[in-house]
Amino acid sequence: MNRTVKSRVSLRVAIVGAGNVGTVLGRVLVEEGARITAVVSRSRSSARSAASFLRCRTYADDLTAIPPETDIIFITTPHDAVAGVASALARLDGLEFSRMGACHASGMLTASVLKPLEERGSRVFSFHPLQTFPRGFPPRRIVPLARGIWYGADGSRPGLRMARRLAGALRGHVIEIPPEFRELYHATCVVASNHLTVLLSVVREMYGGVRPEGRSRPGPFRPIIEATIFNVFATSPASALSGPVARGGVDTVAKHLEAVRRSLPALLPYFTRMTLETIRLAVAGGTLTPERREALENLVMSYTQDPPTIGNRQ
Ligand SMILES: NC(=O)c1ccc[n+]([C@@H]2O[C@H](COP(=O)([O-])OP(=O)(O)OC[C@H]3O[C@@H](n4cnc5c(N)ncnc54)[C@H](OP(=O)(O)O)[C@@H]3O)[C@@H](O)[C@H]2O)c1
Repeated sequence: MNRTVKSRVSLRVAIVGAGNVGTVLGRVLVEEGARITAVVSRSRSSARSAASFLRCRTYADDLTAIPPETDIIFITTPHDAVAGVASALARLDGLEFSRMGACHASGMLTASVLKPLEERGSRVFSFHPLQTFPRGFPPRRIVPLARGIWYGADGSRPGLRMARRLAGALRGHVIEIPPEFRELYHATCVVASNHLTVLLSVVREMYGGVRPEGRSRPGPFRPIIEATIFNVFATSPASALSGPVARGGVDTVAKHLEAVRRSLPALLPYFTRMTLETIRLAVAGGTLTPERREALENLVMSYTQDPPTIGNRQ
């Protein structure tokens, strides 16, 4: 049996918003056998360059370019443009709304923003790719990281069925997000990607303090970073936690706090906040006695005061 041929998908998708998300996910769809029926963007030039990458002949700066045989319209504009695009689509003649699905890629918005399309009979759903698509990265570099990912979705039952079909075509999976927790879900994504990036940037900055002569590329930290992520996913954050806080090493933590205060005072609020969170995790992991916990918390809190009132600095 030819598995490759059997697994080809027969979906026809129009992309509205020719940024990285629309271009990368459109490309995955094409590589999996789907067809992009049109690429529409605010500017014709963005639409044209994405369309060429997506092997699609139809591109425009006008929604009327979307042909009626389209199965799903995927709105990948910035989130503040989604409502306007949905309303404009719903006013079009010539689309077979009752046969069609429509979704958007915003992490913040639920399916309700697509109500005008639902009122015309379309199956609507939110479809947020739980992946990062940085602006400075060309789509070609992101495509290999866009398979096997999860899509945060909500919608009616038929909408969610269509979401699963689209995720399947993208070789991904759907995770249902209750609409009332949408903002919390998106804040979680921010921690997973943006805050992780900030953490790695802090590593780089601190290492720059250790190697001020400029040889501070953080390559030597890559194995410990990768092993930590591996360990967390293999077990749990509490089980993967090592280091002085987990061991209750008050003296070591005191010296760390002092070193950060002396060399990189701008990072002290970050370092103290993260140390408090580390204490919370160590408590959850059962490695801290109540006495050590209290000693650590008192020590860290003494570094969170304004400078004139700081005490307990050893
Ligand atoms: N970037 C990420 O890491 C990421 C991750 C998950 C989800 N998302 C979500 O995915 C969506 C797209 O993100 P992105 O990073 O690809 O955004 P982006 O780089 O800003 O691209 C969005 C594209 O939409 C086009 N556009 C803007 N207003 C439009 C309108 N009214 N009609 C048609 N096209 C319009 C822009 O057009 P022109 O170029 O033609 O001016 C731009 O190319 C957003 O909702 C975002 O929140 C992003």
